[in-house]
Amino acid sequence: MSNCAPHDHLPETLTVLGIETSCDDTAAAVIRLERQAGHDQPNAQHANILSNRVWSQHQDHQAFGGVVPEIAARSHVERLDGVIIAAMKEAGIGFNALDGVAVTAGPGLVGGVLVGLTTAKAIAVSHNLKLIPLNHLEGHGLSVRMTEQAPFPYLLLLVSGGHTQLIHVGGVGDYNRLGTTIDDAVGEAFDKTAKLLGLGQPGGPILEKIAQEGDPERFPLPSPLKGRAGCDFSFSGLKTAIRTAAEKISPLHKRDIADLAAGFQHAAAQHLARRTARAMDMLGGKSGFKENISPPPRLVIAGGVASNLEIRNALSELCHNRGWVSIVPPAKYCTDNGAMIAWAGLERLAGGHFEPLEDCLSLAPRARWPLAPPPNGGAFGGGRKGPKA
Ligand code: KG4
Ligand code: ZN
Repeated sequence: MSNCAPHDHLPETLTVLGIETSCDDTAAAVIRLERQAGHDQPNAQHANILSNRVWSQHQDHQAFGGVVPEIAARSHVERLDGVIIAAMKEAGIGFNALDGVAVTAGPGLVGGVLVGLTTAKAIAVSHNLKLIPLNHLEGHGLSVRMTEQAPFPYLLLLVSGGHTQLIHVGGVGDYNRLGTTIDDAVGEAFDKTAKLLGLGQPGGPILEKIAQEGDPERFPLPSPLKGRAGCDFSFSGLKTAIRTAAEKISPLHKRDIADLAAGFQHAAAQHLARRTARAMDMLGGKSGFKENISPPPRLVIAGGVASNLEIRNALSELCHNRGWVSIVPPAKYCTDNGAMIAWAGLERLAGGHFEPLEDCLSLAPRARWPLAPPPNGGAFGGGRKGPKA
C-alpha cells in the first residue's frame, strides 16, 4: 500500500472500527485516538480502546481436533454482525461517528477473510468511511504500540499459529524479514504436540497449564538448528522427538504428560531465544536500526504464543543480558482480536498510508500474503504451507 492519501485534513479525533475474521475468532473493536498537532504517529497515551469483542469458535471445532475452514467461515457469517453491533454499543457510538473501518484482508482462511472484508466494505460504502484493508501480521506487529511506548524501529518476534518470524520494523509499512520457520510455526507445534499428548484445543494455553506441573529436564530433547547460521527456526523435530519419547513410555500417565509438555515448552522457549539472539547479532546490537535513534534497542514480541509465560521470560532474560528492552502487549491483545486491527488502521490513517475507498472495493481476500519481503529477494518459501503461510 502506498503513502498516497493526503491526511492533513483529518480531524483531531480519529475513530476506527477494526474487524478480524482470518481464523477461528470473530472479533470487532473500536478505538478512538486524540491526534497530537504535528504528530502523524499515533501514541498509546492518546488511544482509547472503547470496545474489544471476541467471539471464539473453539467449541465449534473441538470435535475435529483443529480448525475446519468451512465451519469457521459459516460461524463468521452467523456471528460477525452481532459482534460488530456489540462492539459499537459498548463504544457508545453510531457508524456515522467512525472515520474508518479497518479489516483483515489476509493472510488467513479465505472464507473467513471474505466474510470480514465484505462486511467492512458494506459498512464503509453505506456510511462513506475510509476503508483500510490490512495484513493480519501487520495487526500483530503494531499491536504493542496500542498499549505500550514502543517507538520505531524495533525487532519484532512474531509468534502465532501460522507464523514464526523475526522482522525489523522501521515504521508503518517498513518491514524487513530476518528469519522465519523452515517447517512448522511455533503455535502450530504447540497445537500438534498438545494433540498427540491427548490434550484439548487450542493446544498452546492448555499445554502451558499442564506444563506447570512437569519436569522439563526428564526427556532429553534436540536443540533445533544448533550452530546453523542465520536466524531461521525449526519446530518439527521437537514435535517428533516428543512423539518418539511418548511412544517409548506409552501408555502415558498424568505425570508423563506433564513432563513431556514441560520439556516441549522449555525447548521451544530456548530455541526462540537462541535464534532471536542471532537476529540481535545480525542487527549488530544497534546498527541496522536507523541512526539517531536513542538506545537501548527494543525487542517486541507479538502473536498468540507471546502470551506464554515461559517464552516471555526466556526472551526478557535474553534482553536483560544484552542490554535490550523487551516489550510485549497484554495477553488479551496477543491472541487474535479486533483492537489490533483497529489500531493498525489508525496507524495507517494517521500517517496517510491508505488508499481511496473506490480503490479498495475491488480488493479480494488473500490466503497468502507475506508481510515482509524474503531476504535477498529469494522465492517466498520455507515455513508453513497451510492457509496462514
Ligand atoms: O495469533 P493467534 O491468536 O492466531 C494466529 O494468527 O495464528 O495465535 C494462535 C496460536 C495458537 O497456535 C495457540 O495455540 C497459540 O497461539 N497460543 C499459545 C498460547 N496462547 C495461544 N501457545 C503457547 N502458550 C500460550 N499460552
Ligand atoms: Zn493472529
